[in-house]
Amino acid sequence: MRHRLPRELLPDTAAVGRDGRLSVGGVDVLDLVEEHGTPLFVYDEAHLRARCREAVTAFGEGVAYGSKAFLCTAMARLVHEEGMRIDVATGGELHVALAAGVPPERIVLHGNNKSLDELRTAHALGVRVVVDSFDELARLQALHDDDGLVTRVMVRVTPGVEAHTHEYVMTGQVDSKFGLGLASGEAGRAVEQAQLHPAFDLVGVHAHIGSQIFQLRSFEKAVDILAGFVAPLGLEELCLGGGLGVPYVEGEAAPSITEWADVLHAACKAAGITAHVTVEPGRAIAATAGMTLYRVGTIKEIPDVRIYVSVDGGMSDNPRPVLYGSGYETFLPRSTLADRPRTVTVVGKHCESGDIVVRDGRVPADLAVGDVLCTPVTGAYGHSMASNYNKVPRPPVVFAADGHARVVVRRETLDDLLRLDT
Ligand code: LLP
Repeated sequence: MRHRLPRELLPDTAAVGRDGRLSVGGVDVLDLVEEHGTPLFVYDEAHLRARCREAVTAFGEGVAYGSKAFLCTAMARLVHEEGMRIDVATGGELHVALAAGVPPERIVLHGNNKSLDELRTAHALGVRVVVDSFDELARLQALHDDDGLVTRVMVRVTPGVEAHTHEYVMTGQVDSKFGLGLASGEAGRAVEQAQLHPAFDLVGVHAHIGSQIFQLRSFEKAVDILAGFVAPLGLEELCLGGGLGVPYVEGEAAPSITEWADVLHAACKAAGITAHVTVEPGRAIAATAGMTLYRVGTIKEIPDVRIYVSVDGGMSDNPRPVLYGSGYETFLPRSTLADRPRTVTVVGKHCESGDIVVRDGRVPADLAVGDVLCTPVTGAYGHSMASNYNKVPRPPVVFAADGHARVVVRRETLDDLLRLDT
Protein backbone atom coordinates (compact mmCIF):
# COMPACT_ATOMS: atom_id res chain seq x y z
CA MET A 1 0.00 0.00 0.00
CA ARG A 2 1.49 3.31 -1.06
CA HIS A 3 -1.35 5.47 0.21
CA ARG A 4 -0.95 8.10 -2.45
CA LEU A 5 -3.35 11.01 -2.30
CA PRO A 6 -6.37 10.31 -4.56
CA ARG A 7 -6.25 12.83 -7.41
CA GLU A 8 -10.02 13.35 -7.42
CA LEU A 9 -9.83 15.03 -4.01
CA LEU A 10 -7.90 17.91 -5.58
CA PRO A 11 -9.53 20.74 -7.54
CA ASP A 12 -9.84 20.58 -11.33
CA THR A 13 -6.80 22.70 -12.21
CA ALA A 14 -4.50 21.15 -9.59
CA ALA A 15 -1.21 20.18 -11.17
CA VAL A 16 1.88 18.56 -9.74
CA GLY A 17 5.24 19.73 -11.04
CA ARG A 18 8.20 17.44 -11.64
CA ASP A 19 9.51 18.48 -8.27
CA GLY A 20 6.26 17.26 -6.68
CA ARG A 21 5.00 20.75 -5.82
CA LEU A 22 1.32 21.49 -6.11
CA SER A 23 -0.14 24.32 -8.12
CA VAL A 24 -3.77 25.42 -8.36
CA GLY A 25 -5.05 27.73 -11.06
CA GLY A 26 -1.50 27.88 -12.37
CA VAL A 27 -0.20 29.24 -9.05
CA ASP A 28 2.26 27.37 -6.81
CA VAL A 29 0.50 26.92 -3.48
CA LEU A 30 3.73 27.09 -1.46
CA ASP A 31 4.40 30.47 -3.07
CA LEU A 32 0.93 31.51 -1.88
CA VAL A 33 1.83 30.39 1.63
CA GLU A 34 5.06 32.37 1.39
CA GLU A 35 3.05 35.47 0.52
CA HIS A 36 -0.05 35.09 2.69
CA GLY A 37 1.06 32.90 5.60
CA THR A 38 -0.86 30.03 7.21
CA PRO A 39 -3.53 28.92 7.82
CA LEU A 40 -4.75 29.78 4.35
CA PHE A 41 -7.75 28.79 2.26
CA VAL A 42 -6.98 28.48 -1.46
CA TYR A 43 -9.77 28.03 -4.02
CA ASP A 44 -9.56 27.02 -7.64
CA GLU A 45 -11.72 29.64 -9.32
CA ALA A 46 -12.08 27.65 -12.56
CA HIS A 47 -13.36 24.68 -10.54
CA LEU A 48 -16.02 26.83 -8.87
CA ARG A 49 -17.10 28.26 -12.22
CA ALA A 50 -17.17 24.82 -13.86
CA ARG A 51 -19.47 23.43 -11.15
CA CYS A 52 -21.81 26.42 -11.44
CA ARG A 53 -21.97 25.96 -15.21
CA GLU A 54 -22.58 22.26 -14.83
CA ALA A 55 -25.49 23.02 -12.49
CA VAL A 56 -26.99 25.59 -14.87
CA THR A 57 -26.64 23.22 -17.84
CA ALA A 58 -28.13 20.31 -15.90
CA PHE A 59 -31.06 22.12 -14.27
CA GLY A 60 -31.56 25.28 -16.33
CA GLU A 61 -32.81 28.61 -15.05
CA GLY A 62 -33.53 28.88 -11.35
CA VAL A 63 -30.84 26.60 -9.95
CA ALA A 64 -29.40 28.29 -6.85
CA TYR A 65 -26.12 28.12 -4.95
CA GLY A 66 -26.56 27.21 -1.25
CA SER A 67 -24.37 30.03 -0.01
CA LYS A 68 -24.02 28.74 3.57
CA ALA A 69 -21.35 26.42 2.18
CA PHE A 70 -19.05 29.37 1.50
CA LEU A 71 -19.91 33.02 1.02
CA CYS A 72 -18.08 36.30 0.54
CA THR A 73 -18.78 39.05 -1.97
CA ALA A 74 -16.38 37.58 -4.56
CA MET A 75 -18.12 34.20 -4.31
CA ALA A 76 -21.58 35.78 -4.61
CA ARG A 77 -20.45 37.66 -7.73
CA LEU A 78 -18.88 34.55 -9.26
CA VAL A 79 -22.03 32.51 -8.75
CA HIS A 80 -24.20 35.29 -10.17
CA GLU A 81 -21.91 35.73 -13.19
CA GLU A 82 -22.25 32.02 -13.89
CA GLY A 83 -26.03 32.25 -13.96
CA MET A 84 -27.02 30.70 -10.64
CA ARG A 85 -29.41 32.23 -8.14
CA ILE A 86 -28.25 32.51 -4.55
CA ASP A 87 -29.92 30.79 -1.64
CA VAL A 88 -29.37 32.71 1.60
CA ALA A 89 -30.45 31.43 4.99
CA THR A 90 -30.20 34.58 7.11
CA GLY A 91 -30.28 38.36 6.92
CA GLY A 92 -26.48 38.22 7.15
CA GLU A 93 -26.07 36.07 4.06
CA LEU A 94 -28.67 38.24 2.33
CA HIS A 95 -26.63 41.34 3.23
CA VAL A 96 -23.47 39.88 1.69
CA ALA A 97 -25.27 38.82 -1.51
CA LEU A 98 -26.83 42.29 -1.89
CA ALA A 99 -23.50 44.01 -1.12
CA ALA A 100 -21.95 41.93 -3.90
CA GLY A 101 -24.48 43.45 -6.30
CA VAL A 102 -26.62 40.35 -6.81
CA PRO A 103 -30.07 41.57 -7.94
CA PRO A 104 -32.75 40.84 -5.29
CA GLU A 105 -34.83 38.84 -7.74
CA ARG A 106 -31.89 36.39 -8.06
CA ILE A 107 -31.90 35.72 -4.30
CA VAL A 108 -33.97 33.18 -2.34
CA LEU A 109 -34.37 33.57 1.43
CA HIS A 110 -34.57 30.48 3.65
CA GLY A 111 -34.77 29.93 7.39
CA ASN A 112 -37.00 28.32 9.98
CA ASN A 113 -37.11 31.50 12.07
CA LYS A 114 -36.83 34.53 9.83
CA SER A 115 -37.16 37.70 11.83
CA LEU A 116 -39.61 40.41 10.91
CA ASP A 117 -36.65 42.56 9.83
CA GLU A 118 -35.29 39.83 7.56
CA LEU A 119 -38.73 39.34 6.03
CA ARG A 120 -39.26 43.09 5.68
CA THR A 121 -36.04 43.46 3.68
CA ALA A 122 -36.87 40.51 1.43
CA HIS A 123 -40.45 41.64 0.94
CA ALA A 124 -39.49 45.24 0.13
CA LEU A 125 -36.72 44.30 -2.32
CA GLY A 126 -38.48 41.46 -4.12
CA VAL A 127 -36.37 38.59 -2.77
CA ARG A 128 -38.12 35.24 -3.04
CA VAL A 129 -39.04 33.70 0.33
CA VAL A 130 -39.22 30.00 1.13
CA VAL A 131 -41.94 29.95 3.77
CA ASP A 132 -41.27 27.66 6.71
CA SER A 133 -44.12 28.25 9.18
CA PHE A 134 -47.59 29.71 9.68
CA ASP A 135 -46.07 32.45 11.83
CA GLU A 136 -44.05 33.51 8.82
CA LEU A 137 -47.11 33.54 6.54
CA ALA A 138 -48.79 35.82 9.08
CA ARG A 139 -45.76 38.15 9.19
CA LEU A 140 -45.72 38.42 5.40
CA GLN A 141 -49.46 39.09 5.36
CA ALA A 142 -48.96 41.92 7.86
CA LEU A 143 -46.23 43.42 5.67
CA HIS A 144 -48.60 43.24 2.69
CA ASP A 145 -51.33 44.94 4.72
CA ASP A 146 -48.91 47.85 5.23
CA ASP A 147 -47.63 48.40 1.71
CA GLY A 148 -49.65 46.22 -0.66
CA LEU A 149 -46.51 44.56 -2.05
CA VAL A 150 -46.79 40.91 -3.05
CA THR A 151 -44.07 38.41 -2.02
CA ARG A 152 -43.03 35.56 -4.29
CA VAL A 153 -42.98 32.48 -2.10
CA MET A 154 -42.38 28.76 -2.08
CA VAL A 155 -43.67 26.54 0.71
CA ARG A 156 -41.11 24.29 2.37
CA VAL A 157 -42.40 20.80 2.87
CA THR A 158 -40.98 17.99 5.04
CA PRO A 159 -41.58 14.88 3.00
CA GLY A 160 -40.81 12.41 5.81
CA VAL A 161 -37.66 10.91 4.28
CA GLU A 162 -34.69 9.79 6.35
CA ALA A 163 -31.73 10.40 4.08
CA HIS A 164 -28.59 8.35 4.67
CA THR A 165 -26.41 10.98 6.28
CA HIS A 166 -25.34 12.36 9.66
CA GLU A 167 -28.25 13.00 12.02
CA TYR A 168 -27.28 16.68 12.42
CA VAL A 169 -27.66 17.37 8.69
CA MET A 170 -30.77 15.27 8.07
CA THR A 171 -33.74 17.54 7.45
CA GLY A 172 -36.44 15.66 5.54
CA GLN A 173 -37.74 13.48 8.37
CA VAL A 174 -41.11 14.07 10.08
CA ASP A 175 -39.43 15.18 13.33
CA SER A 176 -37.66 18.28 11.97
CA LYS A 177 -37.61 21.94 12.88
CA PHE A 178 -37.70 22.72 9.14
CA GLY A 179 -40.68 22.88 6.84
CA LEU A 180 -44.31 21.91 7.12
CA GLY A 181 -45.36 18.30 7.29
CA LEU A 182 -46.88 16.54 4.33
CA ALA A 183 -48.50 13.71 6.24
CA SER A 184 -49.95 15.99 8.93
CA GLY A 185 -51.68 18.16 6.32
CA GLU A 186 -49.86 21.31 7.43
CA ALA A 187 -48.06 21.64 4.09
CA GLY A 188 -51.39 21.50 2.28
CA ARG A 189 -52.90 24.15 4.53
CA ALA A 190 -49.91 26.46 4.02
CA VAL A 191 -50.10 26.07 0.22
CA GLU A 192 -53.82 26.85 0.32
CA GLN A 193 -53.23 29.96 2.41
CA ALA A 194 -50.51 31.14 0.03
CA GLN A 195 -52.77 30.52 -2.97
CA LEU A 196 -55.75 32.35 -1.52
CA HIS A 197 -54.23 35.37 0.20
CA PRO A 198 -53.32 38.38 -2.00
CA ALA A 199 -50.04 38.87 -0.09
CA PHE A 200 -48.50 35.94 -1.97
CA ASP A 201 -47.44 34.89 -5.41
CA LEU A 202 -46.94 31.15 -4.89
CA VAL A 203 -44.22 29.87 -7.22
CA GLY A 204 -43.89 26.33 -5.99
CA VAL A 205 -42.96 23.80 -3.37
CA HIS A 206 -39.56 23.26 -1.75
CA ALA A 207 -38.08 20.23 -0.01
CA HIS A 208 -34.55 19.68 1.30
CA ILE A 209 -33.88 16.23 2.76
CA GLY A 210 -30.36 16.72 4.10
CA SER A 211 -26.72 17.19 3.23
CA GLN A 212 -23.70 15.05 2.18
CA ILE A 213 -25.96 12.45 0.56
CA PHE A 214 -24.26 9.88 -1.68
CA GLN A 215 -27.27 7.74 -2.51
CA LEU A 216 -29.45 9.25 -5.21
CA ARG A 217 -32.10 6.76 -4.09
CA SER A 218 -32.81 9.08 -1.13
CA PHE A 219 -33.77 11.86 -3.54
CA GLU A 220 -35.91 9.48 -5.60
CA LYS A 221 -37.74 8.49 -2.45
CA ALA A 222 -38.43 12.15 -1.68
CA VAL A 223 -39.80 12.72 -5.19
CA ASP A 224 -42.04 9.65 -4.90
CA ILE A 225 -43.46 10.90 -1.63
CA LEU A 226 -43.88 14.47 -2.86
CA ALA A 227 -45.51 13.49 -6.16
CA GLY A 228 -49.05 12.97 -4.88
CA PHE A 229 -48.94 16.41 -3.30
CA VAL A 230 -47.02 18.38 -5.93
CA ALA A 231 -48.35 17.02 -9.23
CA PRO A 232 -52.02 18.07 -8.80
CA LEU A 233 -51.03 21.59 -7.70
CA GLY A 234 -49.67 22.34 -11.18
CA LEU A 235 -47.26 24.96 -9.79
CA GLU A 236 -44.36 26.45 -11.73
CA GLU A 237 -41.41 25.09 -9.78
CA LEU A 238 -40.35 22.24 -7.53
CA CYS A 239 -37.08 22.89 -5.67
CA LEU A 240 -35.52 19.75 -4.27
CA GLY A 241 -32.97 21.53 -2.08
CA GLY A 242 -29.26 20.80 -1.87
CA GLY A 243 -27.55 17.84 -0.36
CA LEU A 244 -25.46 16.16 -3.03
CA GLY A 245 -22.42 14.63 -1.29
CA VAL A 246 -18.75 14.87 -2.23
CA PRO A 247 -15.86 12.51 -1.49
CA TYR A 248 -13.60 13.67 1.35
CA VAL A 249 -11.36 10.64 1.82
CA GLU A 250 -9.88 7.79 -0.17
CA GLY A 251 -12.47 5.25 -1.24
CA GLU A 252 -15.48 7.57 -1.28
CA ALA A 253 -17.29 8.35 -4.51
CA ALA A 254 -20.25 10.62 -5.24
CA PRO A 255 -22.51 11.18 -8.24
CA SER A 256 -21.87 14.28 -10.35
CA ILE A 257 -24.28 17.21 -10.51
CA THR A 258 -25.28 16.02 -13.99
CA GLU A 259 -26.03 12.49 -12.73
CA TRP A 260 -28.04 13.98 -9.88
CA ALA A 261 -30.07 16.03 -12.38
CA ASP A 262 -30.70 13.02 -14.60
CA VAL A 263 -32.03 10.99 -11.68
CA LEU A 264 -34.23 13.82 -10.38
CA HIS A 265 -35.66 14.58 -13.81
CA ALA A 266 -36.42 10.91 -14.48
CA ALA A 267 -38.02 10.49 -11.04
CA CYS A 268 -40.19 13.59 -11.50
CA LYS A 269 -41.25 12.54 -14.98
CA ALA A 270 -42.16 9.05 -13.81
CA ALA A 271 -44.16 10.58 -10.96
CA GLY A 272 -46.13 12.89 -13.26
CA ILE A 273 -44.55 16.10 -11.93
CA THR A 274 -44.57 18.76 -14.62
CA ALA A 275 -43.11 21.60 -12.53
CA HIS A 276 -39.66 22.92 -13.48
CA VAL A 277 -37.19 21.10 -11.20
CA THR A 278 -34.54 23.15 -9.46
CA VAL A 279 -31.99 22.48 -6.71
CA GLU A 280 -29.67 24.52 -4.50
CA PRO A 281 -26.33 22.75 -4.08
CA GLY A 282 -23.72 24.25 -1.80
CA ARG A 283 -21.15 21.58 -1.04
CA ALA A 284 -21.14 20.13 -4.58
CA ILE A 285 -20.14 23.55 -5.92
CA ALA A 286 -17.57 24.64 -3.36
CA ALA A 287 -16.11 21.72 -1.38
CA THR A 288 -13.51 20.24 -3.70
CA ALA A 289 -12.57 23.66 -5.10
CA GLY A 290 -11.01 24.64 -1.78
CA MET A 291 -8.17 23.43 0.41
CA THR A 292 -6.57 24.56 3.67
CA LEU A 293 -2.84 25.02 4.17
CA TYR A 294 -1.37 24.84 7.66
CA ARG A 295 2.15 25.02 9.08
CA VAL A 296 3.33 22.13 11.25
CA GLY A 297 4.49 23.51 14.59
CA THR A 298 5.22 20.47 16.74
CA ILE A 299 5.45 16.71 16.34
CA LYS A 300 4.94 14.77 19.53
CA GLU A 301 5.30 11.01 19.60
CA ILE A 302 3.70 9.14 22.48
CA PRO A 303 5.48 5.78 22.22
CA ASP A 304 3.12 2.92 21.31
CA VAL A 305 0.15 5.29 21.39
CA ARG A 306 0.16 7.87 18.59
CA ILE A 307 1.99 10.73 16.94
CA TYR A 308 0.43 14.16 17.36
CA VAL A 309 1.20 16.66 14.61
CA SER A 310 0.08 20.14 15.65
CA VAL A 311 -0.83 22.75 13.06
CA ASP A 312 -1.51 26.46 13.39
CA GLY A 313 -5.31 26.29 12.94
CA GLY A 314 -7.84 23.69 13.95
CA MET A 315 -11.45 23.63 15.05
CA SER A 316 -11.74 27.39 14.50
CA ASP A 317 -11.21 27.03 10.75
CA ASN A 318 -12.68 23.53 10.38
CA PRO A 319 -15.16 22.42 13.05
CA ARG A 320 -16.48 19.54 10.92
CA PRO A 321 -14.34 16.80 12.49
CA VAL A 322 -15.46 17.90 15.96
CA LEU A 323 -19.11 18.38 15.00
CA TYR A 324 -19.71 15.41 12.74
CA GLY A 325 -16.64 13.21 13.14
CA SER A 326 -15.80 14.05 9.52
CA GLY A 327 -12.68 12.60 7.95
CA TYR A 328 -10.13 14.37 5.77
CA GLU A 329 -6.99 13.43 3.89
CA THR A 330 -3.71 15.16 4.51
CA PHE A 331 -0.64 15.62 2.32
CA LEU A 332 2.41 17.80 1.87
CA PRO A 333 2.21 20.15 -1.14
CA ARG A 334 6.02 20.03 -1.42
CA SER A 335 5.70 16.35 -2.42
CA THR A 336 2.05 16.08 -3.33
CA LEU A 337 1.89 12.54 -4.64
CA ALA A 338 4.54 11.02 -2.38
CA ASP A 339 3.85 7.77 -0.57
CA ARG A 340 2.30 8.40 2.82
CA PRO A 341 3.42 5.52 5.01
CA ARG A 342 3.08 7.22 8.43
CA THR A 343 -0.21 7.54 10.28
CA VAL A 344 -0.47 10.59 12.52
CA THR A 345 -3.16 12.54 14.32
CA VAL A 346 -3.26 16.10 13.03
CA VAL A 347 -4.48 18.44 15.75
CA GLY A 348 -5.09 22.15 16.00
CA LYS A 349 -3.83 24.71 18.48
CA HIS A 350 -7.02 25.10 20.52
CA CYS A 351 -7.41 24.32 24.20
CA GLU A 352 -9.43 21.16 23.73
CA SER A 353 -8.45 17.55 23.24
CA GLY A 354 -11.27 17.24 20.72
CA ASP A 355 -9.55 19.78 18.48
CA ILE A 356 -8.69 17.21 15.84
CA VAL A 357 -8.20 18.13 12.19
CA VAL A 358 -7.48 14.65 10.82
CA ARG A 359 -7.81 11.59 13.02
CA ASP A 360 -5.74 9.09 11.03
CA GLY A 361 -3.83 11.33 8.69
CA ARG A 362 -1.39 9.73 6.28
CA VAL A 363 1.84 11.61 5.75
CA PRO A 364 5.19 11.01 4.03
CA ALA A 365 7.95 9.50 6.17
CA ASP A 366 10.00 12.70 6.16
CA LEU A 367 7.30 15.00 7.58
CA ALA A 368 9.08 17.61 9.70
CA VAL A 369 8.36 20.64 11.85
CA GLY A 370 7.99 23.66 9.58
CA ASP A 371 6.35 21.70 6.75
CA VAL A 372 3.24 23.06 5.09
CA LEU A 373 0.48 20.49 5.44
CA CYS A 374 -2.68 20.55 3.34
CA THR A 375 -6.16 19.20 3.93
CA PRO A 376 -8.08 19.05 0.63
CA VAL A 377 -11.89 19.37 0.18
CA THR A 378 -12.33 22.16 2.75
CA GLY A 379 -14.08 24.58 0.38
CA ALA A 380 -17.54 24.01 1.89
CA TYR A 381 -18.50 24.55 5.53
CA GLY A 382 -14.92 25.38 6.47
CA HIS A 383 -14.44 29.13 6.23
CA SER A 384 -18.21 29.60 6.54
CA MET A 385 -18.27 27.86 9.92
CA ALA A 386 -15.00 29.37 11.13
CA SER A 387 -14.93 31.05 14.54
CA ASN A 388 -12.60 33.12 16.69
CA TYR A 389 -12.42 30.49 19.42
CA ASN A 390 -9.39 31.12 21.64
CA LYS A 391 -9.19 34.45 19.82
CA VAL A 392 -7.56 32.84 16.82
CA PRO A 393 -7.95 35.21 13.84
CA ARG A 394 -9.77 33.65 10.90
CA PRO A 395 -7.62 32.76 7.87
CA PRO A 396 -7.73 34.62 4.57
CA VAL A 397 -9.21 33.21 1.37
CA VAL A 398 -7.40 33.33 -1.95
CA PHE A 399 -8.90 32.60 -5.37
CA ALA A 400 -6.39 31.30 -7.92
CA ALA A 401 -7.00 31.32 -11.68
CA ASP A 402 -4.99 31.59 -14.88
CA GLY A 403 -1.66 31.99 -13.11
CA HIS A 404 -2.87 34.75 -10.78
CA ALA A 405 -4.12 34.76 -7.23
CA ARG A 406 -6.31 37.35 -5.52
CA VAL A 407 -7.22 37.71 -1.87
CA VAL A 408 -11.02 37.68 -1.61
CA VAL A 409 -11.18 37.63 2.20
CA ARG A 410 -8.22 39.10 4.09
CA ARG A 411 -6.73 37.57 7.21
CA GLU A 412 -8.23 38.83 10.45
CA THR A 413 -5.76 40.84 12.47
CA LEU A 414 -5.29 40.94 16.21
CA ASP A 415 -6.96 44.34 16.16
CA ASP A 416 -9.98 42.83 14.41
CA LEU A 417 -10.39 40.74 17.55
CA LEU A 418 -11.02 43.95 19.48
CA ARG A 419 -13.30 45.70 17.03
CA LEU A 420 -16.56 44.82 18.76
CA ASP A 421 -15.39 45.51 22.29
CA THR A 422 -16.69 48.70 23.85
N1 LLP B 1 -30.75 24.23 0.81
C1 LLP B 1 -31.11 24.19 2.09
C2 LLP B 1 -32.45 24.57 2.46
C3 LLP B 1 -30.17 23.80 3.06
O1 LLP B 1 -30.53 23.76 4.34
C4 LLP B 1 -28.86 23.45 2.67
C5 LLP B 1 -27.86 23.06 3.65
C6 LLP B 1 -28.52 23.52 1.31
C7 LLP B 1 -29.50 23.90 0.39
C8 LLP B 1 -27.16 23.19 0.80
O2 LLP B 1 -26.84 21.87 1.08
P1 LLP B 1 -25.54 21.17 0.46
O3 LLP B 1 -25.73 21.08 -1.03
O4 LLP B 1 -24.37 22.00 0.79
O5 LLP B 1 -25.52 19.83 1.11
N2 LLP B 1 -22.53 22.16 8.13
C9 LLP B 1 -22.87 20.88 7.56
C10 LLP B 1 -23.85 20.99 6.41
C11 LLP B 1 -25.11 21.72 6.79
C12 LLP B 1 -26.06 21.87 5.63
C13 LLP B 1 -27.17 22.79 5.97
N3 LLP B 1 -28.08 23.03 4.91
C14 LLP B 1 -21.58 20.18 7.13
O6 LLP B 1 -20.52 20.77 7.26
O7 LLP B 1 -21.62 19.06 6.66
